[in-house]
Amino acid sequence: MKILAIESSCDETAAAVTEERRVLSSVVATQIEEHRLYGGVVPEIASRRHVESISQVLKEALDQAGVTLREIDAVAVTFAPGLIGALLVGVNFAKGLAFSLQKPLVPVHHLRSHIAANYITHPELEPPFLCLLVSGGNTVLVEVRDYTGFRILGGTKDDAAGECFDKAARAMGLAYPGGVTLDRIATTADHQKYPLPFPHVSTGEYDFSFSGLKTAVMNLINRSAMKNEALDIPVLCATLRQRVCDILIEKTLLAAKHTGCQRIAVAGGVSANSELRRRMTEECRKRGLSLYYPDLCYCGDNAAMVGVQGYYEFLSGNIADSSLNAFATMNIDYR
Ligand code: KG4
Repeated sequence: MKILAIESSCDETAAAVTEERRVLSSVVATQIEEHRLYGGVVPEIASRRHVESISQVLKEALDQAGVTLREIDAVAVTFAPGLIGALLVGVNFAKGLAFSLQKPLVPVHHLRSHIAANYITHPELEPPFLCLLVSGGNTVLVEVRDYTGFRILGGTKDDAAGECFDKAARAMGLAYPGGVTLDRIATTADHQKYPLPFPHVSTGEYDFSFSGLKTAVMNLINRSAMKNEALDIPVLCATLRQRVCDILIEKTLLAAKHTGCQRIAVAGGVSANSELRRRMTEECRKRGLSLYYPDLCYCGDNAAMVGVQGYYEFLSGNIADSSLNAFATMNIDYR
């Protein structure tokens, strides 16, 4: 079954053609350069750029896959969560396509598709498993019970891990998207020098909080500016990266222990973090747990993962009609 998938939830316009778990093509038009000017994503600009590039991105995806629109069996699209204006571009485009082709329209939850990126990289991976989902907008620990069944164990009470990286990096004067830059700069530095708190969250043992950490970094920056002291930016990057990894790894391993899950997947943009990958690999190996993370090209937003999750949504009967709407927020376990 060939699926044409569309993704426009934030600042990447993407289209892909997939066949079950196989990727026949995956095209991503990123807007990073334009948003860099403002230090973050400007929603209105994102929506406009999606409108401008979506037709061309779709054409490239079809050309690269060597298929025509007539050979497509279904159209899958990210419909939630994300920037509402950006999502609406993809949703309306997909609706028009599905209607004109007279093919099923499959709505795909953005976080479910991030998990599905692991199905591309690991053809043997099947639910159930535990997934740490870490992106720019979300940090959630979920039990993936089956391809479309999820139980949320915990999530962030304030900022997402990626957001913490991005905002702290911006305060340090690093280029957007800060998480990537921070990861690169941190690699050569020692992480012991600056004291950063380990946030405690009272709502649940698998819940996260990153806003205090971000504030602690900003306070360090402000204090050193007032005292006219130079900050060691690579060391601060390494310290923050280390602390975020401590938190993510501790909660994930705790959840694995309590649920008895032997398989752990990591997904979302922050799953590209080199230290998170290294330490997770080490900790899982020590405990005899199997660890999965996506190839780097599928960590960030892309449409191939939407097509793969779309396949499983289609099999479970999740098919929309032309009344499909976009939603800025929606839990991964929605029904
Ligand atoms: O999944 P994604 O592309 O978009 C969302 O759905 O949010 O994630 C983007 C986030 C950004 O916060 C970015 O800074 C972060 O992923 N990110 C990283 C790395 N690569 C991307 N954070 C830390 N280390 C990285 N190597």
